[in-house]
Parts: sequence; structure tokens; C-alpha cells
Amino acid sequence: MKTRITELFGIRHPIIQGGMHYVGFAELAAAVSNAGGLGLITGLTQKTPELLAKEIRRCREMTDQPFGVNLTFLPTLASPPYPEYIAAIVEGGVRIVETAGRSPEAYMPAFKKFGIKVIHKCTSVRHALKAEAIGCDAVSVDGFECGGHPGEDDMPNMILLPRAAEELKIPFVASGGMADARSLVAALALGAEGMNMGTRFVATQEAPVHQNVKDAIVAATELDTRLVMRGLRNTERVLTNSSVEELIQIEKEKGANLKFDDIMEQVAGVYPRVMVEGKMDAGAWSCGMVVGLINDIPTVQELIDRIMGEAEQLITARLAGFLEPVAA
Ligand SMILES: Cc1cc2nc3c(=O)[nH]c(=O)nc-3n(C[C@H](O)[C@H](O)[C@H](O)COP(=O)(O)O)c2cc1C
Repeated sequence: MKTRITELFGIRHPIIQGGMHYVGFAELAAAVSNAGGLGLITGLTQKTPELLAKEIRRCREMTDQPFGVNLTFLPTLASPPYPEYIAAIVEGGVRIVETAGRSPEAYMPAFKKFGIKVIHKCTSVRHALKAEAIGCDAVSVDGFECGGHPGEDDMPNMILLPRAAEELKIPFVASGGMADARSLVAALALGAEGMNMGTRFVATQEAPVHQNVKDAIVAATELDTRLVMRGLRNTERVLTNSSVEELIQIEKEKGANLKFDDIMEQVAGVYPRVMVEGKMDAGAWSCGMVVGLINDIPTVQELIDRIMGEAEQLITARLAGFLEPVAA
């Protein structure tokens, strides 16, 4: 398939694996890129810029295809050393960056100086337009369904994507709720030129996370995610568990007085315990509503091949079949 996204990133299929804390290691990024999509290493999962440089080298040993790095700008006071992370990306020869969390404006001159293509992930048309204005090459438009941080507008992709298509000149991918060929074809119909998936890629053979995480995703239904931290304007969609239910109880009790410190136990330092140790009740971890559409743990290659094969069928057989034959 050829779209402005495949052309921009030099990939065979318009499928991107979004940055994911403690999931987006070299193994997954390389598997996605080898299968023709765009794999992304999650920059900040690597605790120092030196470790990111090492992870980039590891990924390069596993694939000769383009891959990128996700840089998430966190709403924390103690900011990670972003310029050093960017230096590791540049020196590692990576030329694609997915930014998220906040506007990458401050770092655009550095990215552009080294010919890095920037795809900014955002949850509203106004933020997408801002990304276009500051020189981003593409955006990833993340709807309310998404795993992780859906923002505060609660706009589902059925509205958000066509609105983005009405306003944007740069190409965009649909993110949030994407799992299969139906998602891809719908996203293309709504104006996107590809799709970004998070949760779906966690339940693959190559995702370097504990088997319990993959099993939990397969077992869960679309009713099993919760929104937390709304009171802090840092809303996150997570898979429910006993710790998340505790968190929600604390949020109810504290109401408008909620502070980050009140929920530290449920949200801080959770990812290694869930993803590495497989302790599924350790705390809140990102997961999308799309979990209801995930019923297996294929290899990344099988997943991407299946999506692309079925997408072609959907377009050429199912959709084309609805058209009335033209009268002779
Ligand atoms: C376990 C997990 C961790 C994530 N961590 C990050 C992250 O560190 N940075 C980021 O920009 N997005 C992160 N995301 C969001 C994904 O990149 C992607 O935007 C989102 O999962 C898309 O929605 P979906 O899960 O419905 O596919 C994470 C998502 C998941 C499921």
C-alpha cells in the first residue's frame, strides 16, 4: 500500500508501533520494522541517553529497515535531559522521531538541523494544527479510545479523524482503537493515511513483556479499561485491576483536593513490576479499549501480514461489492 506516510518514512505498510513505556524495546521495534511497518524504541524507558544509544545499536543489529525513537515530554518537574537524548538519536543515525506529551516546538530546530522527520502524537485538532505550524512532518491523531493519555477533550476517532482531515495539510495516522484490517480501512476512509497501534502490539510474540501481560490483554473485554488521574488533568486510560479500583476510590474520596502524592502507590514505578515481573495488580498501566478486539498473540509478521491481506480484501471485495454496477 502506498500513502504519504509510507513515502515519508520509507516503509512498506502504513502501520506504526507507538512508543510504549517498558514495551518499546529494540526487539519489538525491529520486529515491526522488519515486517514492513515503522517500529519505535521508547526513549525514556532507557534511563540515560547512553543506554538509549546502546538500545539503538541493538535495534540496528536486528533490522536494516527504518525505525524511530519515541520521545515523550513528561509533565514532571525534574525534566529528563532531552538534548542529550536527541544527541543519542542523531549519533545513532535514527532519522525518525515520534514526539508526545507536549509540543516539541523547543526541539524542532535540533530535529530539523539533522534531517529528522517528526511525527507528533496529539489528541486534538488544535494541537495537530500547532504541530503542522511548527514544522512537524506528520501527526498521529490519538482518539479518546486510546491506551495511555487521551487528553481532556474526550473526542472519539469517528469525529476526531475526519475533523483532522478537514484541517490538516500534512499527513496523519489514526491512533487509538486500531487493531486490525477493519481499523486500517476505516482510518483510511476517515482521511488518515495509516494507523498507529499500541495495545495490539503488546500482545505479540516479540513484545518483550511478561506473558501475564499478554494473557491479560487477551482475556480482557472492551469494558475493562478505566480513566484515571482526570482530576490532575493528566488523564490516563488503563486496564482495570485491584490497584486501579483503589486509585479510583481515593480519587472519589479526595475529589477536587486530589494531589499526585495521594496516588503515588498506584502509579509510580509500576511499569517494571507489571511488564517485567508480570505482577498484574501492581498498579495502573496504559491499555486501550481496543483490548476487546484482541484475541490472540501472533508474531508481529503474522499480525501485519494479516492486516494488509484482509485490508485488500475489504477494499476490493466487501466495499467495492456494495457499489451498484454502472448501467451499460
Ligand atoms: C503499555 C503502554 C505504554 C505506553 N507508553 C507510552 C509512552 O511512553 N509514550 C507515548 O507517547 N505513548 C505511550 N503509549 C501510547 C501508545 O503509543 C499509543 O498512542 C496508544 O496505545 C494508541 O492506542 P491503542 O492502545 O488503542 O492502540 C503507551 C500505550 C500502552 C498500551
